[in-house]
Amino acid sequence: MDASFVSREQTRMLAELTEFLSIPSVSALPAHAADCRRAAVWLMDEFRRLGCPVVNLVEGEGHPVVWAESPRVPGKPTLLIYGHYDVQPPDPLEEWESPPFDPTVREGRLYGRGTADDKGQVYCLLKAYEAARAADGMPPINVNFIIEGEEECGGQVLGDLLRVEPERTHADAALVCDASFYAPGIPAVYTALRGICYAEISVRTLDRDLHSGSYGGVAPNALETLVRILSELKDEDGEIQMPKLYKAVEEPAKSERKAWKRLPFDEQAFLEKEVTGRALTGLEDYSVLERLWALPTLEIHGIRGGFVGEGAKTVIPAAATAKVSLRLVPGLTFEKTARWLTKAVARLAPKWADVEVTILHGSDPVQVDISDPVFDVLDQAFEEKTGSPAVTVRSGGSIPIVKELGQGGAPVILTGIGLPDDGLHSPNEKLDLQQLWDGIEIFGRFFELMAGQSPRAADDDEDEDEEEQAGPEGEDETADRETLEV
Ligand code: BES
Ligand code: MN
Repeated sequence: MDASFVSREQTRMLAELTEFLSIPSVSALPAHAADCRRAAVWLMDEFRRLGCPVVNLVEGEGHPVVWAESPRVPGKPTLLIYGHYDVQPPDPLEEWESPPFDPTVREGRLYGRGTADDKGQVYCLLKAYEAARAADGMPPINVNFIIEGEEECGGQVLGDLLRVEPERTHADAALVCDASFYAPGIPAVYTALRGICYAEISVRTLDRDLHSGSYGGVAPNALETLVRILSELKDEDGEIQMPKLYKAVEEPAKSERKAWKRLPFDEQAFLEKEVTGRALTGLEDYSVLERLWALPTLEIHGIRGGFVGEGAKTVIPAAATAKVSLRLVPGLTFEKTARWLTKAVARLAPKWADVEVTILHGSDPVQVDISDPVFDVLDQAFEEKTGSPAVTVRSGGSIPIVKELGQGGAPVILTGIGLPDDGLHSPNEKLDLQQLWDGIEIFGRFFELMAGQSPRAADDDEDEDEEEQAGPEGEDETADRETLEV
């Protein structure tokens, strides 16, 4: 790996990344569909610049997936790199110190939506790949890239693709760089991610909004009804009122709990610097890390209904909707949880209201096995740069496609170069530039070290050869999905 790459190419890299981040690829907002496509096309151009002989856009009902293959190096292992080019909505806009899609450096940090989650980290891996190539452009290992545009909105395009073409996940390892170091100087690999069940609860009590003087005191208020239902779904101590939920939770092993206790964790600093609140909430019998990593949650994301404009309007709302989600830990499934939530809400619905639960999307929790030797290789790369191998942790967040990435038997490496205070999904999301530069060297070195490993069983290679001849787009196209060579 070329030791001077980062210092030599820094200015260009910052300009490239700024261009990528300036595209507002907000997957949840239909108004940004064209921007999502622009981000995908930006990546395709980049993969071509990097000399990838196969660069495809996989279309479906939603935002496209970018697929690219490095030139093949016979006899070397294959790494599948996953990332996402879509980002969360940037609001509340007024809280950003610089505009979310006008990436700005302040004190060595790059601020903007997607800097850490996940465009900056995708970019880090692209440059690590670039840096690790030999003078003739050949990489040390075979790399397949799969960069989706619907991670943040629960889309189906990538899931559908991998169901029809599971061979895309055939690899010696999958690398997901969409999380963070445990703390500055302490890299992390993740053994579990929480699943999610995202839903809307809507309430209707009247045909139309009413004058709150003429009818107040007798007409059922939809917002009030909704708020009562929500408040009963979780009690003041933070316990979700769905009895089956906690019974199904699989407790982490004693050894895992013990390991978490040994992790450096400063609750006060966590509260002040990351959470930015006055107190932590939730089930007091459990440690903060247990609440984050080993327990389900129920959060209200937003409530719509009634009058929220400037000034005062005296109205009894006829309808109201809340967006909520549960995070799921091992033992729970999306499907079961969706059923329990629907039942719990139905039980709480008063007779004067029509109450509906609409499930928007969801995924099961995942646990990954980190016993494969590739994790030792990663540790070596981490240690050479940071002085520390990765600590083993879990994450409270979700990456829905991880289960499918592992379906072909490849060990899934969940890691990241961000820092815990990056502010994912928050205003003023940032990436420390030193983390990016170090990350490029870490993963460049990882690719190089991985080249010293022998690839998995030969039949995998044969599969890949067949795949190449047929073209990864294959003949098995389905009616609702097509792969375009662009
Ligand atoms: N990068 C995050 C997941 C994450 C967060 C990993 C924190 C490790 C630490 C990911 O992009 C994300 O935010 N996912 C969504 C998925 C959801 C919308 C289905 C999430 O967790 O909210
Ligand atoms: Mn992400």
